[in-house]
Amino acid sequence: MKNSRQIGFATRAIHVGQEPDPLTGAVTVPIYPTSTYVQQGIGEHKGYEYSRVSNPTRTRLEENLAALEGGLAARVFASGMAAINAVTTLLKSGDHVICGNDLYGGVPRLFDQVWADFGLEFSYVDTSEAGHVERSMRKNTRMVYVETPTNPLMRLSDIRALAAICRRRKTELIVDNTFMSPYFQQPLALGADMVVHSTTKFLNGHSDGLGGVVVCSKPEQAEQLAFLQKAAGAILSPFECWLVLRGVKTLAARMEQHDRSGRIVARFLAEHKKVKKVLYPGLPDHPQYELAKQQMSGFGAMITFETGSLNNAKKMLKKVHVCSLGDSLVGVEARRDARQSELPMAWCVSQWASRMSRTLSMI
Ligand SMILES: Cc1ncc(COP(=O)(O)O)c(C=O)c1O
Repeated sequence: MKNSRQIGFATRAIHVGQEPDPLTGAVTVPIYPTSTYVQQGIGEHKGYEYSRVSNPTRTRLEENLAALEGGLAARVFASGMAAINAVTTLLKSGDHVICGNDLYGGVPRLFDQVWADFGLEFSYVDTSEAGHVERSMRKNTRMVYVETPTNPLMRLSDIRALAAICRRRKTELIVDNTFMSPYFQQPLALGADMVVHSTTKFLNGHSDGLGGVVVCSKPEQAEQLAFLQKAAGAILSPFECWLVLRGVKTLAARMEQHDRSGRIVARFLAEHKKVKKVLYPGLPDHPQYELAKQQMSGFGAMITFETGSLNNAKKMLKKVHVCSLGDSLVGVEARRDARQSELPMAWCVSQWASRMSRTLSMI
């Protein structure tokens, strides 16, 4: 679709990359479950050679997600962790990475237990204070990696401030935008160099597929990551690409409802006498409430709260009726329960075992 930046977000989500199929007129993108493509002669083809390299369903999803994040190109991978791993492979032995000190646990596991053995160095700092990042810069720092808000403590980093530091120090800023989705936060417009997502979460939104994406702001990043899809092969299957294309069509509507429900649930929890603390950027007592209003256009549905003890957390979980306890978040099954008018959203509680004694994240 031409001039996609000039049309609204919801329209882009439904139409960019999702044009009717020219062959049949089908209004949904076809799933191309093919490993290979016939060639007219050696090396003569219609742009597709082998599905590890490229696949038409994947191309459409990559066009769509690039348009939603305002990026130059997107590359999709088999999971969020595969996408983060792909970004890490752009580094070289001896490079240093500054990371947030509150990240989804799989990320430090990948960095410390896999990549550190290949000569990469990682420092974990509180990136919510831009000065900490500046002071942690070394000559060999090549990347700053943050989640904002973080999983699970819902801390924010000032993307614009970090981007300015990174530009000065010739370092790339990577933002995991999973918790906000491009609907509420646009890190590339704020100066980030690349955005990653676990598409497993809001972008797919239906708890029926894993996936990850890297959205690039520069042609060389897109080229390197396309090469990596071909070389390492951790690509998203055509069927799962189609599931995400299906999911993003309702992203705008879902995010609006998530946000409405998130605010109500956060206020309910904040007033509850058994809840010790609520971490939600939409509550005025969140330490970065002002920053949240500046760099996000909504507060979303991720809420962390403290029950005071592991025992209390376990007791509470036993009493929750509609939501399911499980590892993941933000599927559509976190839906309104008509019987609980004071809690318009059922909760899908995600458990981070190591922190469960203090905090529970839920939507
Ligand atoms: C913020 C964040 N980033 C990345 C990931 C990893 O994504 P995936 O589970 O799709 O590999 C997760 C998983 O929960 C996450 O919460």
